[in-house]
Amino acid sequence: GDSVSIGLLGLGVVGSGVIKLVEDHQEKLVHQLGVKVKVKSALVRNPDKARNIDRERTHLTTNPDDVLNDPEIDVVVEVMGGIDKAREYILQAFSAKKHVITANKDLVALHGKELQEAAARNKCDFFYEASVAGGIPILRGITEGLSSDRIQQVMGIVNGTTNYILTKMNSDGMSYEDALQEAQELGFAEADPTADVEGLDAARKMAILGRLAFSTDVELDDVEVTGIKGIELEDLQNGDRLGYTMKLIGFANFDNQKLEVNVQPTLLSKEHPLADVKNEYNAVYVYGKAVGETMFYGPGAGSLPTATAVMADVVAAIKNMRLGVTGSQVAEPHFKKELKPADQ
Ligand code: NDP
Ligand code: HSE
Repeated sequence: GDSVSIGLLGLGVVGSGVIKLVEDHQEKLVHQLGVKVKVKSALVRNPDKARNIDRERTHLTTNPDDVLNDPEIDVVVEVMGGIDKAREYILQAFSAKKHVITANKDLVALHGKELQEAAARNKCDFFYEASVAGGIPILRGITEGLSSDRIQQVMGIVNGTTNYILTKMNSDGMSYEDALQEAQELGFAEADPTADVEGLDAARKMAILGRLAFSTDVELDDVEVTGIKGIELEDLQNGDRLGYTMKLIGFANFDNQKLEVNVQPTLLSKEHPLADVKNEYNAVYVYGKAVGETMFYGPGAGSLPTATAVMADVVAAIKNMRLGVTGSQVAEPHFKKELKPADQ
């Protein structure tokens, strides 16, 4: 036909960004794909909530079947969050031979393998660019841009909420609570921000990054985590006086099969390139044997930035559909891993 229909599971911060992007950049999409892209329906919890969308164009529903079993919908975008329901709906979408795009790192970190296998069985695409570092095209950077390289190290700031909190405390002397509240109001934080501030959100992203970067099997349990919860304004100010900036840093190293992955608050010299990454911005440093040092920088959260990552996947899935192929971003894990014992 002359259009492809997508269905959304969830229409919050990210889902509404997807609708806006599809509308505002329709011309670019048509130019890329040769067909129009429509958001035909969206699953929500509360259809009566006021929303800034055209309900004639996008039908709101509380029945997941309206998205998962609509034969006109080829691509399902899961941006509702949570684990069990999201997993169940995505598996249902694959059974109905629909390609699935998700922004859900909680789910991909825990059940990525199962979902990838279900996608492959049904000859469907399963992409999740938005699950790591919001608008930064880091997963495609690693899996496509650096596909021939052997990546040894990935390090970075991969949680926008905690970086926002640390920045506001540091530069404006704002309290932890006020800064967290602002991050929530701006749509950066998770529905329950515990995972952000305890470092678990960053750990999930490091597990996903590690899998793709190192072609090995990185489990969430392999990641050692310390969050920013106990950090006081005084700690930041003391560091600042000595020329250091506190950042929540994710670190992953894979060398001679030894895997080491952790997330922890780290004092960086103000000269360090990651020390300058402010507010909800993220940055990921990738060291590959052949390429050497690379840095990816950009907005790690927020409506439109995250929607660009979702739409990159949608565009890739539609291109694949038209070629009659499916292309998973990740092959089977290739290298064996040994966990490096933690330093005592
Ligand atoms: P929001 O809380 O803003 O939106 C969630 C949406 O899903 C809402 O529309 C909600 O309905 C709907 N929803 C949630 N649970 C159900 C359910 N059980 N049944 C039906 N509808 C449901 O979340 P975000 O948009 O911020 O995040 C979505 C996903 O994207 C999450 O996985 C998050 O981790 C990820 N993400 C978020 C980023 C961000 O910057 N916010 C960045 C990168 C990834 P209703 O509107 O009726 O409440
Ligand atoms: N809550 C996440 C963050 C959203 O703050 O980085 C982006 O994944």
